Amino acid sequence: MRVIVCLDYNEMSMVGARFVSSQLTLKPDSVLGLATGLTPVGMYNILSDMNKKGEIDFSKVKSFNLDEYYKIAPDNEQSYHYFMEKNLFSKVNIKRENTHILDGLSENPEEECERFDKLIQEKGGIDLQILGIGRNGHIGFNEPDKELYSNTHLTPLTQSTIEANSVFFESEDEMPKSALTMGMSSILKSKRIIIMANGESKKDAVARLLSGKISTDLPASLLNIHPDVILICDKAAYSSVNNK
Ligand code: F6R
Repeated sequence: MRVIVCLDYNEMSMVGARFVSSQLTLKPDSVLGLATGLTPVGMYNILSDMNKKGEIDFSKVKSFNLDEYYKIAPDNEQSYHYFMEKNLFSKVNIKRENTHILDGLSENPEEECERFDKLIQEKGGIDLQILGIGRNGHIGFNEPDKELYSNTHLTPLTQSTIEANSVFFESEDEMPKSALTMGMSSILKSKRIIIMANGESKKDAVARLLSGKISTDLPASLLNIHPDVILICDKAAYSSVNNK
């Protein structure tokens, strides 16, 4: 894993945006894997500005999002459909028919997950996957457990994730307790993976990620077996590395 430690969140977002922009220069019809959450928002803003200035073109890009709450309607302000529309899709020239997000209202989640994995492969697989990391080391919604799922699947969320994410909902009761998420092999099949982390709250997860050990207790640690992963973090998130 290559590690890039940045001064702060702004620099981290800029570095992330440069990787995406180089990817699209080399392959304008790239398939991007996208994450939601607070971490990539700065990078999405920079990409939107670059698109406005004509420095980057999304017209041929295809995208697949990592996850979506279950059950949630796409027009719910806390859905990942809504997040992507607000933070990226409405601000760049990506074609909506080329964006793919799991259906959080699907009556048949198993079928929906199978359809999603198949579609990723039909489109040629993910060229560049963007990830954030949970405080507990989750990626997508692959939560720490004795066993992890390989394919896209429906999963219950852990209490730690419910607590971290319920701040965005009116109350914890309003927050869905399950999600549809790409599985570990769906993620690891990506040709290149960028994982981003900022702030003190991520320092334990980052230190464990770089400890050299692989464990399903820290789903992100499985990224260590992938040949092309770049961790982009700020100083605060990196501050516990070597102390673990
Ligand atoms: C979001 C996702 C999650 C987040 C993680 C970090 O699509 O898959 O794994 O990346 O929970 O969230 P933030 O960035 O809000 O700290």
